[in-house]
Amino acid sequence: MTRTVYIETYGCQMNVSDSELMYGTLQASGYTPVEGPEGADVVLVNTCAIRENAEQRVIGRLGELRRDLKPGAVLGVTGCMAQRLGPRLLATDTRVQLVVGPDAYRMLPQLIEGARGGDRVTATDFDLEEHYEDVVARRFEGVKAWIPVQRGCDYRCTYCIVPTTRGPERSRKLAEVVRETQEVVAQGLTEVILLGQTVNSYHDGTHDFADLLRAVGAVDGIRRVRYTSPHPNDFSDRVIAAMAETPTVCAHVHLPMQSGSTSMLKRMLRRYTREEYLDCVARLRAAMPGLGLTTDIIVGFPGETEEEFADTLSLVREVRFDDAFTFKFSLREGTPATRMPPEWTIPDAVIDARYDALLGTVRGISRERNLGRLGERMEVLVEKEARKGELLQCRSRDFKTVLVQGPTEWIGRYLTVELTGTTGATFTGTLVPDRHPLPMAG
Ligand code: 5AD
Ligand code: SF4
Repeated sequence: MTRTVYIETYGCQMNVSDSELMYGTLQASGYTPVEGPEGADVVLVNTCAIRENAEQRVIGRLGELRRDLKPGAVLGVTGCMAQRLGPRLLATDTRVQLVVGPDAYRMLPQLIEGARGGDRVTATDFDLEEHYEDVVARRFEGVKAWIPVQRGCDYRCTYCIVPTTRGPERSRKLAEVVRETQEVVAQGLTEVILLGQTVNSYHDGTHDFADLLRAVGAVDGIRRVRYTSPHPNDFSDRVIAAMAETPTVCAHVHLPMQSGSTSMLKRMLRRYTREEYLDCVARLRAAMPGLGLTTDIIVGFPGETEEEFADTLSLVREVRFDDAFTFKFSLREGTPATRMPPEWTIPDAVIDARYDALLGTVRGISRERNLGRLGERMEVLVEKEARKGELLQCRSRDFKTVLVQGPTEWIGRYLTVELTGTTGATFTGTLVPDRHPLPMAG
C-alpha cells in the first residue's frame, strides 16, 4: 500500500516551488500526493516567517491539524519558520516531529522514516550546493511553471528575516534552468516564472541574468517568461536590454520600493536613494513603453517620520504603479531592526492610519490607470476558473487580471480580448473573434 503525503503551503512563490520539489522528492520515494490532511500518512506545513502574523497563522493551523490527523501520521514543519525556530518548534508543539529547513528537503524520506519510529528531529543546515537538480518537481499549476534560479539572499535589508531563513545567495547553472524550461514546455506549459530573492543578481559564475533571460526566452515553444523579485540595484543596462530585446519576456516588473524616503531607505539598508529608484523606473520604462509596474511598500518601519511617510506617498504618486502590495512593519527577531532604539517604534494606531492612507492612494491610482485602458485589445493567457461565476481568469502580458466568459477547455489557451469593464483592480473582457486579426499588445 502506498503512503500518502499532504503539503500545505504558506508564503511566497519560492515556497510554492519548494513544495513542488518536496512532493517530487517524496513521490520518487513511493509517496502519493493527496489534497487534504485527513487520512494522510504525512502532513507537512511549508511555512513563511516574513511577518509575525504569517507565523501566528501557522501556529493556529498546527493546532487544527493536530485534531484532523489520523493516528500515527507524521506531522512536520518546513520552510522559513522551521529554519528560524528550529528545535524551539519541537518544544512548542509536541505533536510536531519534523522541523526541516529549505536546504534539507532531500532528506525528507529518511527523516520521515525516523519519525515513524518515534524520532523528533530538526534539520536546518544550509547547503550552498543544493539546487535539487535531480528532483522532478510535482507541479500542480496547469499552465505556468515556477522555476527557481537562485536561492538565498546576500542583501541585508534591516527589516528582513530572509537572509537568516534562506542563507547566502547562490545561482543554478544556466544550462540547468534551460533544461527545466524545455521539460515544462514538453509537458505543454508555455509560461515560466524565474524565481529568486533578488533574481536579477543571478550569476552562475559564467552567465548573468541578461544571459539567462535570453537563453530561457529562446527555448522553443515558450511564449511567456516572467521573473520575481528583482532588486533595483541589479538592473544593469545588460539586463534591461535583454528584457526589452527578448520578445517572450513579458513587459512587467515587480520592483520592490519599500519606501519613498532616502533617509528611511538608508535605515532599511536598501542601498538606493529615492532618486536612484526613480532612475531605475525611468530606464525600464524608456526601454519598454507600456511596461506593467508593481511594487512592495512597508509602512511603520522604526523612526518613520510624517515627512518620510509623505515621501512614500509622493513617490507612489510620481511612479503611478499599476498595483502595490502594502505591508505594516513587523519586527522580526534576529533582524538588524531589533537593535534600533525602542523610542523609534511607531505606535500601532499611527501605522494603521498610514497604512490606510497608502492603500487608498495605491488603489486610487490603480483604478485611474485601469479605467484609462478600457477598450484596449490585448493577448491574454487563460489560467484557471475564476472564483466567482462562470468566468475564466486570464492574465495579460503586463500582468493584468482579466475575467472572460468561456468554457474551461480554454484553460491554457491564448485569446485576444477587449477590456470592457473594471472593478478598479481587475478587468472583465470579451473575446475578439479570430476573423478580425488584430495586433497584439505586448
Ligand atoms: N515587515 C513587514 N513587511 C516586510 N517585508 C519583508 N520583511 C518585512 C517585515 N519585517 C515585505 C517587503 C518585501 C515583501 C516580500 O515583504 O515589502 O518586499
Ligand atoms: Fe529581504 Fe532585502 Fe534580501 Fe529582499 S533583498 S529578501 S527584502 S534582505
